[in-house]
Amino acid sequence: MKINKIPLYDVQISKEAIREVTATLKSGWLSTGPKVARFEKEISKKFGFKYAAGVSSASQGLELMLSAHQIGPGDEIITSPYTFVSTIEAIHSVGAKPVFVDIDPYSLNINSDLIRAKINDRTMAIITVDVGGFPCDYQKLKKLAQDEGLLLLGDAAHSISSKYKAKPIFKYCDASVLSFHATKNLICGEGGMVLSDNKKIMERLQLLARHGISAGALQRKRIKITGNMMSLLPVTKQPCRNFMPPSGWDSLNPMTKKNKNGKSWPDVILKIFQPLINIWNCRLPINMPSMAGTCLSPN
Ligand SMILES: Cc1ncc(COP(=O)(O)O)c(C=O)c1O
Repeated sequence: MKINKIPLYDVQISKEAIREVTATLKSGWLSTGPKVARFEKEISKKFGFKYAAGVSSASQGLELMLSAHQIGPGDEIITSPYTFVSTIEAIHSVGAKPVFVDIDPYSLNINSDLIRAKINDRTMAIITVDVGGFPCDYQKLKKLAQDEGLLLLGDAAHSISSKYKAKPIFKYCDASVLSFHATKNLICGEGGMVLSDNKKIMERLQLLARHGISAGALQRKRIKITGNMMSLLPVTKQPCRNFMPPSGWDSLNPMTKKNKNGKSWPDVILKIFQPLINIWNCRLPINMPSMAGTCLSPN
């Protein structure tokens, strides 16, 4: 019997990406260099955020995001049990307690109707996870967070291109974290980005990401700081940034590309699954083609 395998994920590295990585290696800027700065600028512009901070992974970004909001021991964070371990690791790393709220079996995301019962005076934030890029119920979540005075923070590792009511999902959150890990929609080998409009939080986050040192390597070169660097904050965890973002990253994103018949990936997937959906009489979460840009990460 012939078995047709449907690849869950296929890493596509274009010639342009290889050229960019070679140029990065030749430039000598392997850590926090000008490409990181340019990538931060491009991402913040694309998604309409005042600040974007490149980090070495979404895992580090999540931890930094919590630390920057001064979440720590004694605090509780509500999140989904159906996620990658990093979401929970980040909460543990800052000394806070994860509080799980069950998922909705239809979307596989946190069930917003069950959250209120888990809120108490130690609750500081809700962390959303858009499984496979499928958006959480952001309208309800944002209202709930506002009513209860909680932060709404996004683990957007799967959802760089996801939209909820025509807006990027991060627009509903106080801060969000993207992943550029090898199985994500947009890949840089490793890497992540934190997005927010909150100046104070992002300044603190960048300071933490720089090991608490007053200026990063690129800043020191650009503004020609001489003399000693100052350590402004005691930081025990020392996340750093070390990724090599490609230029023209949008065109490198395989999920924004169409196949040779002009179909987007969600269209193709829907076509593959339609016969099974009919046989099993099951339903897909909302409308697959409208989810163009969702993540097909196996985790
Ligand atoms: C939901 C979720 N959050 C966080 C991460 C961590 O991403 P990174 O590998 O960039 O640290 C992943 C990675 O798979 C993920 O799936």
